[in-house]
Amino acid sequence: GNENSGRNPLILPEYACQRATCLKHFNHKFTKALEILQKHAELRDNERDSSRALAFRRASCVLKSLPFPLTSMSQLKNLTNIGDHCKRVIQEILEDGECREVNELQDDWFQKMVVFTNIFGIGSATAKKWIEKGWSTIKEAQEGYISSDWRVRWGLAFHTDLNTPVNLQEAQYIQQIVRKEAETILPGIILQITGGFRRGKEEGHDVDILMTHPEEGKEVGLLARLLQRLQNKGIILCGNLEKSTYSDEMLTLDSKLSAKGQLDHFEKWLGIIKIPHSCSENPAMDYSGSLSIISSCVHKGTGCSVDNSTCCTASEQPLNYQPLNLDESLDLESKAKKQKLGTENEISPMELAKLDRNWIARRVDLIVSPYDQYFYALVGWTGNKQFNRDIRTYAQRELGMKLSSHGLYDLNKNCALPARSEKEVFQNMKLQYIEPWERNC
Ligand code: GTP
Ligand code: MN
Ligand code: MN
Repeated sequence: GNENSGRNPLILPEYACQRATCLKHFNHKFTKALEILQKHAELRDNERDSSRALAFRRASCVLKSLPFPLTSMSQLKNLTNIGDHCKRVIQEILEDGECREVNELQDDWFQKMVVFTNIFGIGSATAKKWIEKGWSTIKEAQEGYISSDWRVRWGLAFHTDLNTPVNLQEAQYIQQIVRKEAETILPGIILQITGGFRRGKEEGHDVDILMTHPEEGKEVGLLARLLQRLQNKGIILCGNLEKSTYSDEMLTLDSKLSAKGQLDHFEKWLGIIKIPHSCSENPAMDYSGSLSIISSCVHKGTGCSVDNSTCCTASEQPLNYQPLNLDESLDLESKAKKQKLGTENEISPMELAKLDRNWIARRVDLIVSPYDQYFYALVGWTGNKQFNRDIRTYAQRELGMKLSSHGLYDLNKNCALPARSEKEVFQNMKLQYIEPWERNC
């Protein structure tokens, strides 16, 4: 035995939305292996694999909420969601320090699939076709693939930029630019970084920003005007504005909003912007006021505390430094245009990426929600994806309610349950409040 065996039998609540799951935990050795199994099943991408993928993820998620490092199989006795396959993997890691199946999965095919599906706009079907053609590098795809999808053209061209993780300083820089323009258009606007940064991650693949206005209807038309202003500043590289397709019946009917689905009907813009290279490096900038460090982060229900550094969250306050000047890089581009084409024609994304430039491309998601849906949208766009799956399944199975980013609908009483705060979203579902940084399932 060890000092932790006295804690058993440990009972963890069945649903991840009833537990705290922090970024830092005691069982990375196991969860990394299980998430490779999950990733592999996702990449193979057929119906049977996708349910296996979810089973691996659920097991991993349980281990992330354990308040101690797993040292013996007996500690799994009272835990749900850990099937036989996962148990074999865990046992092998306990005995040998690694799992042969997991090692063997990470073959050439897997590595290539990971590289290709990391390209913006590329899914596993296209990645598989590329591998069948014998391609194994980004360069081969850049040279050999012509896509009609703007995401793929830009994703391929700016692959190096977009695969360099966005850090917190860059996220806050982007938030500040967006806030400044949005507040000019619509005073009183509420704007919040969501996604991984809100969950306390220090890096991400994009910046997710959710917007609303407390006066009903004021948010209509905001996004198009905001994008026009950002365009005029010269910082938009590409993107797509999706109009809202929401209607009230969707709260009850829409299958897109099912427990599994992450899709919603908000007006949103998914795109790529450019920010100065130096905005994450400039030592003269003072970020001391930019983080609200939460002093203690306690695993709910398990009594385990995790060190502060994992529990910071992006501030909701605007920062006070000047956005850097992009004029120089714009000059560079117009020069290149004239040299290359002698006209005002657009240069291709690939040519643009190859320029000597002082900016980096960053993926940004901008989402606009009506205020009466805002706190549900906030939960949905904070995630993570697995937390969303779980809390939606919980609502359906345990409460007979339908949860989406648009609201919560009681299917028995036939009524929607409004929420005026994120805490109320949890109260409406009879759940203890789970902080954003405890939603890293
Ligand atoms: P990184 O960006 O890699 O740091 O991770 P992330 O958790 O921020 O992932 P991502 O930006 O993909 O998504 C943020 C949250 O928004 C997640 O909880 C997703 O489930 C959710 N999300 C992403 N796309 C959509 C969408 O089209 N509709 C809805 N409703 N949610 C989405
Ligand atoms: Mn994100
Ligand atoms: Mn996103």
